[in-house]
Amino acid sequence: MVEGMVRMKRNELGRFAGRASASIRFGVLAGMALGCLAYAATVFAQHRMHGQPVKEDRNHPWMNASLSPDERAAMVLKEMTLDEKIDLVHGMGMPGWPREVQNPEPELGNGGAGFVLGVPRLGIPIIQMSDAAYGVRSSAENGRYSTAMPSNLGAAASWDPEAACAFGAVIGKELRAQGYSMTLGGGVNITREPRNGRTFEYMGEDPVLAGTLVGNLMKCEQAQNVIGDIKHYAVNDQESGRNEVDSIIEKRALRESDLLAFEIAVGIAQPGAVMCSYNALNGEFGCENKYLLTDVLKKEWGFKGFVVSDWGGTHSTVKASAAGLDNEEPLDEFFGEKLKAAVEAGKVPMSELDEHVRRVLRTEFQCGIVDHPMQKGVPDVEGNLATTLKVEEQSAVLLKNAGGLLPLKSAAVKSIAVIGPHANEGMMSGSGSAQVDAPGRPSAGWMAQVWFPQSPVAALEAKFPGAKVQFDSGANTESAAALAKSSDIAIVFVYQWESEGMDLPNLSLPVKQDDIIEAVAAANPKTIVVLETGTAVTMPWIDKVGAVLEAWYAGSKGADAVANILNGDVNPSAKLPMTFPKSEADLPHPKLTQPGPGQTGEAAVMRTGEAKPTFSVKYDEGLKVGYKWYDAEKKTVLFPFGYGLSYTKFSYSGLKVAPGKETGVSFTVKNTGSRAGGEIAEVYAALPGGAGEPPKRLVGWSKVWLKAGESKEVSLSIDGKYLSIYDEASDGWKLVPGSYTIMVGGSSQELPLTAKAELK
Ligand code: BGC
Repeated sequence: MVEGMVRMKRNELGRFAGRASASIRFGVLAGMALGCLAYAATVFAQHRMHGQPVKEDRNHPWMNASLSPDERAAMVLKEMTLDEKIDLVHGMGMPGWPREVQNPEPELGNGGAGFVLGVPRLGIPIIQMSDAAYGVRSSAENGRYSTAMPSNLGAAASWDPEAACAFGAVIGKELRAQGYSMTLGGGVNITREPRNGRTFEYMGEDPVLAGTLVGNLMKCEQAQNVIGDIKHYAVNDQESGRNEVDSIIEKRALRESDLLAFEIAVGIAQPGAVMCSYNALNGEFGCENKYLLTDVLKKEWGFKGFVVSDWGGTHSTVKASAAGLDNEEPLDEFFGEKLKAAVEAGKVPMSELDEHVRRVLRTEFQCGIVDHPMQKGVPDVEGNLATTLKVEEQSAVLLKNAGGLLPLKSAAVKSIAVIGPHANEGMMSGSGSAQVDAPGRPSAGWMAQVWFPQSPVAALEAKFPGAKVQFDSGANTESAAALAKSSDIAIVFVYQWESEGMDLPNLSLPVKQDDIIEAVAAANPKTIVVLETGTAVTMPWIDKVGAVLEAWYAGSKGADAVANILNGDVNPSAKLPMTFPKSEADLPHPKLTQPGPGQTGEAAVMRTGEAKPTFSVKYDEGLKVGYKWYDAEKKTVLFPFGYGLSYTKFSYSGLKVAPGKETGVSFTVKNTGSRAGGEIAEVYAALPGGAGEPPKRLVGWSKVWLKAGESKEVSLSIDGKYLSIYDEASDGWKLVPGSYTIMVGGSSQELPLTAKAELK
């Protein structure tokens, strides 16, 4: 194993692998033609494992699908040798790693982030894993392009469990079609630090919203007969020094925020796997943290799947195994020969190894990968594109619309200036292991900016056939302003790029895009800004522009979705899943905590081997995450959590609260405008004074679709836990008796209905 393998390298190696496997395929063809040995050798390599035929023997009593996953796993476990057990608790390397750091049978992989050997003689298949946050990674290497859904943060802005489900189902189907049986998606780290370079992969700052949506996404993804995953467990809330940082946080804050998101997601999805994180939490690395893995995840929450380490996140054998890590990825530094020796020496009890193996087996049965043998196929490409379009249309948040500038009336618009560095090329996407390859482009590098066609220019030309659509990159602000001045409307597409492996230096738009917006807005008041960002951005120009649409990373049909919203074919219905602050100075930590001098904490380093945390981030804002911070500290924000506009208007009335084990909340929402639309009706609670909580928390919501003039009564029952606190003294959830205020409305800062409720 190479110490401290640099992740940048992985990309180079990954590309090498892509080429290598292509040449193996070529070799097969050439060999067939010549009838030479090369063919036989390749076939042999592809069809044997440890010298055994890879084809699974399916003639066993545990192949009876009417037995429970637990019964079936127990039956298989009894038949297994020690070596076979060890095979199931570690990975087999990443594609493209050099031979000397690669286990002997790379040909068995499928080009994804890794794979776990099966036990063919017992009918247990290989687990083929692929990253798949917003679409299947590594697909171009597999000969086809995957559908890119909007970024996960964008999907969170839909606040719609059904949209999240559709999102997950597309990915699950495409994983199967490409020969993968396990996803490495499911990110649900809470946005404590909006400069975190992976914010786009997560679902915002509220644990109930994030947990509910990721849970639904993963439930539907896993329903496609792939092993689901929720990650990165836990408090992996920044990339800077992620392999060495110790996240310090009090237990109550941990349980009520970051862990609550995981608890909800795991409860809804019942995922086959949970990925432990790189960072340490309160002194112990995520992948050897007994409190996280065993006490909370497995015992308290009853998680039945297996814990998989993040790639290079394992740092010990005996300690990690005892803490509850079940599977080391991507290789076998600690859970290969060393684990076998520890079992033989009695340092790791056989019963403990059996428990890891049982969890892997059980998951394979539960998630359907044994009963539904892998068969590559062609997914419903058109159908999946239609789904990503719909999800993005529900995810783009209209932040400003002065004087009803939007929707644009197609017939009246004769000329449109489309301005922005890449507006003639495509829409931005998020990078790192989440990256999806863009059609027509080569397989994307580890940290490369990837623009998804089609371009905003082309989408707008199609939507506004009667208008002259002209493009300017904005590289010269004067020429951009001149074009804006001579056009009816100016639309500026600006971006902020994020990637795993780095954090943002600040929340400003990069490459002088603020200057472009200022210049264009000064030239034409009918300036519309379309944001392609993976987190909040500051907007020094906000008072000068006419409209702002936050499109996030918009996916394979992003430009079409934006055009449909701009021209009014679609009425926006999304709301912010995170606060947009006025400036970094208002964040709980105005300065990002970086590793100190001499500490090798660059996020790009995958630190393998034994390790210790070298610096810490103290999340001393504790319970006050996101809007809870701004509320408690009385800081005004640019756009609050839960905020978003529509082309119609809604009114709220008739709040009733029925206290109980599950508190019932009902109210009426009316569409008072002149067109149909969707409203996310939000319910917040203020806990009794003595509870020691921030001013309010989200406890429920409903996305309501209403025709013009229509009213609907909304009824919700609020889970008791969402009204409770985590009591450290009794180590459990506790409802604080007293007077609660329930607040209802269309944003965390616009809550027209309030009612009191006494809870016991
Ligand atoms: C990331 C994981 C990812 C894994 C495999 C790691 O660097 O943190 O999210 O699943 O790589 O690619």
